[in-house]
Amino acid sequence: MLASLPNDLRPLAAQRLSTAEPVLRRLLAGLYGERADFDTWFGDLMESLGKLYAERPPELRALDIQRAAQPEWFLSQRMLGYCAYVQNFGGSLNGVAERIPYLEELGVSYLHLLPFLRPREGENDGGFAVTSFDEVDPALGTNADLHDLTTRLRAAGISLCSDFILNHVADDNQWALAAKAGDAKARAMFHVFPDRDMPDRHERTLGQVFPQVAPGNFTYVEAMGGWVWTTFYPYQWDMNWSNPDVFAEMAAAMLRLANRGIEVFRLDSTAFLWKREGTNSMNQPEAHQLLQALRAIVDIVAPGVLLKAEAIVPTRELPAYLGSAAAPECHIAYHSSLMAAGWVALAEQNTGVLREVIRNTPPLPSAATWLSYVRCHDDIGWNVLRAEAEVGSAAGAAARLAGAARFFSGAQGSYASGAAFQSTDPNAAHGSNGMAASLTGLQTATNEEERSLALRRMLLLHGLALSFGALPVLYMGDELAMENDYSYLDRPQHAMDSRWLQRPVFDEQRWKHRYDKTSAPGIMYQGLANLIRARRKQDALAANAPRALLADAPDGVLALARGERFLTLMNFTGLPQEYALQGVWSDHAEPGRIEGTITLAPYAMHWLARE
Ligand code: GLC
Repeated sequence: MLASLPNDLRPLAAQRLSTAEPVLRRLLAGLYGERADFDTWFGDLMESLGKLYAERPPELRALDIQRAAQPEWFLSQRMLGYCAYVQNFGGSLNGVAERIPYLEELGVSYLHLLPFLRPREGENDGGFAVTSFDEVDPALGTNADLHDLTTRLRAAGISLCSDFILNHVADDNQWALAAKAGDAKARAMFHVFPDRDMPDRHERTLGQVFPQVAPGNFTYVEAMGGWVWTTFYPYQWDMNWSNPDVFAEMAAAMLRLANRGIEVFRLDSTAFLWKREGTNSMNQPEAHQLLQALRAIVDIVAPGVLLKAEAIVPTRELPAYLGSAAAPECHIAYHSSLMAAGWVALAEQNTGVLREVIRNTPPLPSAATWLSYVRCHDDIGWNVLRAEAEVGSAAGAAARLAGAARFFSGAQGSYASGAAFQSTDPNAAHGSNGMAASLTGLQTATNEEERSLALRRMLLLHGLALSFGALPVLYMGDELAMENDYSYLDRPQHAMDSRWLQRPVFDEQRWKHRYDKTSAPGIMYQGLANLIRARRKQDALAANAPRALLADAPDGVLALARGERFLTLMNFTGLPQEYALQGVWSDHAEPGRIEGTITLAPYAMHWLARE
């Protein structure tokens, strides 16, 4: 690798290589070492990394140096994320750039734009079927616009996060097209089976991501004369990561994007990278080895870049995605259990499942954190909570979670207006869709009191995400209490996928009302802005500051201490609740001292600092 670098870049590269190259070699030898040509392949890989290192723009190299010197830079309580679709938030990449002042007003330092690279023509799972990793979706802008946007964001102190969809590519991606045309090398980049023998064997133990609209995990492709592994939609072809060519191609594609100024990669569907017969082909040890190898590559070429794991898996499987001090993996991982459990707490007016999740959340290695959130573009998947929902439940986890799914679909007099996802069976618990405001009752509110309760529920869940000790990411529109968007039902390519309920176009009218404290958007926006401001001032709310669950709160209340000096009290019930405070406290929102027993109004939250 050093040989492909100009002289001035060699000393630093040599220093990084001295620690990371042996790690990378060991990991890759573990995966591909049995191949006779492993050494040559590894040499070629390192040479290609050298070229990408040499191409890295000086301003990004400077950022790398700065961040490598402060590896915990993203754990600060001043970090705040925002997530949006380009087309919905700004119409185009240039339109997103026009919204930078708004992001600055909110205090955002991290912007996740959902897929914006050239997607498949026609249906493309909201851009999650990528045709080209090297080209911006022409509907959203050009590569030059992307460069311009990353430059402007960086100047505003905002890191751009992009999806890197590494489990699969679109069926019109160059490798898929070559495979269809009979190119054996390209065919080997996918999992292709000549008959149903292996697919049937795998299906015995595989799960289903979209059981309703894309049942099964394999798709027969006429041009290939075989069955292609397609975990998601039939047009999303899983890559065969047991082929070292896939590793080399994908690592290079990621670094080319990093060189365009992407600072964080949301590694999509990481749990599915490695397949193994007799298992559900999720969370396999080799998937972790692959991610650790990608991390080692980032540590060598672009240490300012962060890797974020999207693995929607049970809580016990999550920590592995952040690795350990000895074997670092991703820097950030979605805490989907925490997110889903917050919703269960609302549905049940009980914090049992949420407390179990928090108990099951171990301390993390340094320079790693959870991502906390209230909603995202996907469904709230209930099944990740099976273990936690089993605890103390007579009916069993499945029935309990199905209850939450029913609740958010608006059944049994619930205030929510959402949709059960991928399930027509009222006793099954796949997922729930809907914007946070609709799920918390704003859409069905018919009077002031109901409206106010809905807004409190929204703020409560956001308060949990902001105070848990994580990198919190807001989902576009939630800050303005935007409700469900039913227009997807009129779009044939989207109508079968109710995740579009929560993918609305940014509402300019609500945005204009964001300072109007009599309007729902204004109450939500100002309430959230106050929390964000209060969080920034509290060191105790940094992602890596200690966290403890206090057991003396009533079942409906979550009492979370952050260090010795900060306490969050959250009432997940519609009734007032009492909590006996130890010591003297002050509330971030009200003047005066608080001691003794505090009464929490329905769905109220208090952030208390010790006097
Ligand atoms: C991730 C995305 C989801 C997409 C899937 C397949 O789970 O968040 O939207 O459908 O991956 O790429």
